Amino acid sequence: MKTKFTQLGFVLAAAGSAVGLGNIWKFPYMTGENGGGAFVLIYLATILCVGLTIFIAEVSMGRLSEGDSVSAFESMATKFSKIWKYAGLMVFSGVLIVSFYLVVIGWIVKYIFEMAVNLPENVDVSAKIFGNFVANEALSQFVFFTLMFCIVFYIVSKGIKKGIEKTNLILMPMLILILIFMLFYAFSMDGFGKSVEFLFKPDWSKVTSKSIISAVGHAFFTLSLGLCCIMTYAASLPRDANIAKTSLQVAFLDTAIALVAGLVIFTFIFHFDAKPSQGPGLVFISLPTLFYQLGFIGKIFGVLFFVALAFAGITSAISMIEPTAFFLIRRFKLSRQRALVIIAIVVYVFGLLAMLSNIESSKEFATFFSKGFFDILDFLTSSILLPVGGIVIAIFLGFFTKKEALEILLKPYMGRFFNIWYFALRYVAPISVFVVLVNGLRG
Ligand code: TRP
Repeated sequence: MKTKFTQLGFVLAAAGSAVGLGNIWKFPYMTGENGGGAFVLIYLATILCVGLTIFIAEVSMGRLSEGDSVSAFESMATKFSKIWKYAGLMVFSGVLIVSFYLVVIGWIVKYIFEMAVNLPENVDVSAKIFGNFVANEALSQFVFFTLMFCIVFYIVSKGIKKGIEKTNLILMPMLILILIFMLFYAFSMDGFGKSVEFLFKPDWSKVTSKSIISAVGHAFFTLSLGLCCIMTYAASLPRDANIAKTSLQVAFLDTAIALVAGLVIFTFIFHFDAKPSQGPGLVFISLPTLFYQLGFIGKIFGVLFFVALAFAGITSAISMIEPTAFFLIRRFKLSRQRALVIIAIVVYVFGLLAMLSNIESSKEFATFFSKGFFDILDFLTSSILLPVGGIVIAIFLGFFTKKEALEILLKPYMGRFFNIWYFALRYVAPISVFVVLVNGLRG
């Protein structure tokens, strides 16, 4: 028996995958590091022109093949299927991402407790607390990482319906409500105007080929594209699901949440005259001061916020493991448990290495080519593997599968937009991402 999603179940699971630390942790700090508005514009343009196109492509491929990533490429190829099937191995990028992702979810869980007992009165104090935690507190990071590692693998071991769908249904709405409340609060503060300006007024002089590649890579990351994740979820989509509408809903929700998170976070950064370019600590540094400002109720919001964020992270983490698990189970007829044990070993080792690469006393041990392992995993996946995965999917679906199958699947929902999508799939997406990649890696 095959368990299928309902259409709503799929939207929630896809949104649960897309909405994660990428929106609330990564997007704001990357925007801060890359100078604001121009970065945001490139990111938004990529979502619209490339991200949505590939999102629809992945959903179509999953829906049509109803198989794991490797058999999707194999069964849909009109030629060279023996070679194309290897493209499905891009699922392994998920294993790399989830390794450092779980470290960050560990930080978030630690902050749930932090919010309840100890709120920092300003951004400077907050920065010290966070810096010390990440660079010196190996033991507590180890404990939180291991805890989240166990929880996430336990959920995936329970399979699609029970684990993923239910968790999403409860916590996504809560996260959105808290964010909206925080947006209203930020609205009344002085920093809000500056925050809007920083996010939406492009300063093109700040744009480098590195920041362009970061923006494009992040568009893939935030929509969970480029490693057959959405494809794998879509393999369990009911036959009559409206693919176009579903994809639009997920992309819209994901983008809206990132922008709201950015607005709130930068309001506080500017309110305290702090630097937007603080790197990965930005959210952990700015938001706790917001909660401090709110007084007692801030403690409650702080706890709720980090709880919801932890869950947003968990549903995303699940979606990085599930595609590889699904592939191992289908392809090698492994039991779910056995497949997960194999994945878990890799994730645990890589995750610990990533964590150690931030710790002052063990830094050197986990640094390769003068880059910490945490940064290597992040850079390698977001800036290289995901965009390359996206190009591969676009070229495959655009040139090596039957157009009629796609037409039959998509035209009822897209009408004449089908041709625009097909053109974007064949030319706009692969060429633009390729140009960005080549320039970014040279520069
Ligand atoms: N989109 C998630 C986020 O923003 C991360 C994520 C989940 C992901 N699944 C993925 C990224 C698959 C790439 C591929 O946090």
